[in-house]
Amino acid sequence: MNHAILRCPVCGNALTETDRTLRCEQNHCFDIAKEGYCNLNSAHRSGDNIGDNKDMARSRRDFLNKGFYAPLAEAVCQCVEGCTQKGDSVLDICCGEGYYTEYLTKRMERDFYGFDLSKNMVRLAAKRHCGASFFVANIARIPIADGSVKAAFHLFAPFQAAEFGRILAKDGTLFTAIPGRRHLFGLKEALYDTPYENDEQKPQADGLRLTDEIRVKGEITLGSQEDIQALFQMTPYYYHTPSKGMARLEQLGSLTTEIEFVIAAYQK
Ligand SMILES: C[S@@+](CC[C@H](N)C(=O)[O-])C[C@H]1O[C@@H](n2cnc3c(N)ncnc32)[C@H](O)[C@@H]1O
Ligand SMILES: [Zn+2]
Repeated sequence: MNHAILRCPVCGNALTETDRTLRCEQNHCFDIAKEGYCNLNSAHRSGDNIGDNKDMARSRRDFLNKGFYAPLAEAVCQCVEGCTQKGDSVLDICCGEGYYTEYLTKRMERDFYGFDLSKNMVRLAAKRHCGASFFVANIARIPIADGSVKAAFHLFAPFQAAEFGRILAKDGTLFTAIPGRRHLFGLKEALYDTPYENDEQKPQADGLRLTDEIRVKGEITLGSQEDIQALFQMTPYYYHTPSKGMARLEQLGSLTTEIEFVIAAYQK
């Protein structure tokens, strides 16, 4: 596991690796799991029950592995490639089960890191064995050295402007993806009588400068209930849909929907 930019979550000191353990000079130590990731969440709140459960995490992985969101992965890849070079550190913030991290590792040689608060997600990410270093951590306190990340990407997850700004290099860039106006409109039409478009509200990014906006659009067709349900589970609608809408979705043999993302680029 590459730990060059990782820091002890308790005291902030650098870490060294011995016997599958990361340790700081004050002897705080963190075991490297058999899958190769490290739990650096000092609050120890990263049990198996934080975030998506194991089934949801696997279903998200299987859905993304089928390439439905590949246009977004490709766009993020180009963004990161354009502003980094070999040897630079690239971080996937709230990496989930690592689909996007792996996509980028296959395309360029960089020092890749990824973290998420959910151990279930990080375990799946580590099992990809894609060469990135994965760890469990909270965006509220990222165990990474100040100014050490040349490019970070952050897709559909909570935002923490001060921490993101702290870890970014002086000339570093953060790419954040949010759902575009028409994202998953076809799914919403199946679920709701009067679906609304998304508002494309960008995160509160105090202290960071918005430098660019890239729009990614496409259309996907899900040919099975398994894929339709996997997509549904990945959305916030899963938690707020009346049973009538769920029943309607269960009747569908296939679903075609627009996908649309906005990638916002920020610098310090
Ligand atoms: C919608 S998922 C997106 C995952 C991944 N970026 C993707 O697009 O596939 C949001 C992720 O944010 C993670 N998350 C939520 N709160 C977090 C926090 N405070 N610190 C770190 N990760 C967090 C969740 O565990 C989840 O994996
Ligand atoms: Zn320490």
